[in-house]
Amino acid sequence: MAIDSHGRTIDYLRISVTDRCNLRCLYCMPEEGVPFKPHATMLTLEEIARFARIAAGEGFTRIRLTGGEPLVRLGIADLVRDISRIPGIERVAMTTNGILLPQMAEELREAGLSRVNISLDTLDPEQFTQITRWGNIEDVFAGIDAALAVGFKPVKINAVVVRRLHQDLLAFAQLSLDRPLHVRFIEYMPVGSSSGFAGAGWTASDTIPNEELIALIERAAAEAGLGPLLPLDAAARPEGWGPARYYQFEGALGTLGFISALSRHFCGECNRLRMTAEGRLRPCLFSDREFDAHDALRSGTDEDVRLVLREALSAKPDEHHNRRGTERLMSQIGG
Ligand code: GTP
Ligand code: 5AD
Ligand code: SF4
Repeated sequence: MAIDSHGRTIDYLRISVTDRCNLRCLYCMPEEGVPFKPHATMLTLEEIARFARIAAGEGFTRIRLTGGEPLVRLGIADLVRDISRIPGIERVAMTTNGILLPQMAEELREAGLSRVNISLDTLDPEQFTQITRWGNIEDVFAGIDAALAVGFKPVKINAVVVRRLHQDLLAFAQLSLDRPLHVRFIEYMPVGSSSGFAGAGWTASDTIPNEELIALIERAAAEAGLGPLLPLDAAARPEGWGPARYYQFEGALGTLGFISALSRHFCGECNRLRMTAEGRLRPCLFSDREFDAHDALRSGTDEDVRLVLREALSAKPDEHHNRRGTERLMSQIGG
């Protein structure tokens, strides 16, 4: 088992497989001049699978593939297949914008992917195009349908809530009523904003603390004849390895999750390590301290890789201490 220096069991590995994306969400990526890393510096699929195998030997049991957008990486289904066959890896999940799911969900399911979290920050077609800079919301809706149809379970929707966007929160909440969709409201976090990329544009007033958000949703729901929101205990929650707290409307097929990264940080229960597409291990989302596994993966022994992994684990901080901004963009870290 991998235990960090604060006594936490670390068994959840988040691997960003690419920093590229087929969208350009305002808070995540600059529209032009995205400083994509050259392909040659990115880990190959074989190197990623090798890292996963070594991590499994160190006690990691759950893997999430992220991006950028993981589905734009060529061969992604093969990677899912390779990773899901590693002894010790129990579950493989993915965080995706869903655009490519209609054509890929079936193959991914068959390759061993167990579930997906789909990013969707608005239900309004025009606002969607504005936030993503060119996306068509119908593609994401089709992606959600495909995810449910092939049997990913649970299917979650990730909505980053930004005060100045005035998203229709009730409409999001209502998505949980008739289908088994688990809608998660995420506090907007100051990641990427110290990279000189003004587009991240995070300001403290844009983050709506979860408690305020829950009250807003309950009020709107009551006006629509819905509610209250019932808190769910561990047994009733959808499968998840992350920090969301879950609620449900009575009789709903899905749930609502709230991720309070800032207003009530969950670092005490941190169970994860991140790896970027270039093979840099990040002990904390909010910290730019990184440990480079790239060279060890390209030309070193398994023991060399293990040493870097252990070093990164031992450097996990006790908490994020409200750090503001990171050198890397969210699209390079993968959330
Ligand atoms: P589940 O396993 O389904 O619970 O997923 P998850 O919440 O772990 O992963 P996902 O990729 O869907 O991330 C949802 C949101 O939680 C993103 O905005 C992440 O950045 C945020 N998040 C995930 N891990 C951390 C973390 O270690 N610290 C902070 N502050 N936020 C995190
Ligand atoms: N704050 C919170 N969540 C973010 N995400 C991207 N950028 C931010 C941010 N600044 C979300 C994505 C995706 C998840 C991995 O992280 O929307 O759902
Ligand atoms: Fe792409 Fe996700 Fe970033 Fe949007 S949030 S630009 S979908 S990586």
